[in-house]
Amino acid sequence: MDWVIHNGEMLERKNAKVDIEDRGYQFGDGVYEVIRIYNGKLFTATEHLQRLVESAAKVGITLPYKVAELQTMLEELISKNEVDLGIVYLQFTRGESPRKHAFPGIDVAPTFVAYTRKVDRPQAKMERGMKAITEEDIRWLRCDIKSLNLLGNLLANQKATEAGCDEAILHRGNTVTEGSHTNISIVKNGIVITHEADNFILNGISRQVMLKLCKEHDIPFEERAFTLEELNAADEVFLTGTTIEVVPVIMINEKPVGVGVPGTMTRKLQSLFEDEIVRECGPLLENRV
Ligand code: PDD
Repeated sequence: MDWVIHNGEMLERKNAKVDIEDRGYQFGDGVYEVIRIYNGKLFTATEHLQRLVESAAKVGITLPYKVAELQTMLEELISKNEVDLGIVYLQFTRGESPRKHAFPGIDVAPTFVAYTRKVDRPQAKMERGMKAITEEDIRWLRCDIKSLNLLGNLLANQKATEAGCDEAILHRGNTVTEGSHTNISIVKNGIVITHEADNFILNGISRQVMLKLCKEHDIPFEERAFTLEELNAADEVFLTGTTIEVVPVIMINEKPVGVGVPGTMTRKLQSLFEDEIVRECGPLLENRV
């Protein structure tokens, strides 16, 4: 059976119903998280749930649970659904209320939904790399909020899909920001460069893990905006994200990145990232290499 959480209750998926006037449905008025599950355990759960609390606070939604309470509920769901390798998705909207732009009163409680899904590690892409296009970043100016409003991301990702690619690398004018659903880093002369965590990008938890690994292993890195020229001249390009961990980009706009194969720094970070997963969640059955 497929169980979900609806407003704190564990229900069979078919019995979980959300009102047509839920503000998430009508306005995208809510926030969400996607957390990885390895060996039935959540990876970097606290970091994700803390970011959820922050996203909610930034849009004035008060979550009715503490981080630890949420984590316990998600762990119960994972165990009930017997998910070994996958993701848990959770979202809070501002609740059900007749359509009106201004927020409803405090008597309207947020709607909380969570479900799990079995998702493999993208082994082939991790090994061989992904192809990407570049696309103007037309999103709003608060990309630090993990908002349900993803139309700008979806439009860019659809363009990539239509071009036979896996990801759209977004740029505001000449400045590269992030991927449509990933963070991007380049490697030049042994230095990892990724956009600083400001309002133009989502401060990815995988990005933060990757930067922590750089620090711990004396890998030089810079958190700063970089240009399309720097992207095109990079030795290596890689993406980070919850479902993909660290994935090389080997082709951008049909041109090879560097020599067109995953680079040594990307390989090193992939392997360090994997060690981090093993440390937190135990041995992985299917290792990348
Ligand atoms: N996407 N940037 C954007 C715009 C994202 O949507 C995501 C995650 C990331 C990477 O963040 P993290 O490392 O915390 O997953 C960066 C999720 C997985 C999604 O929307 O499915």
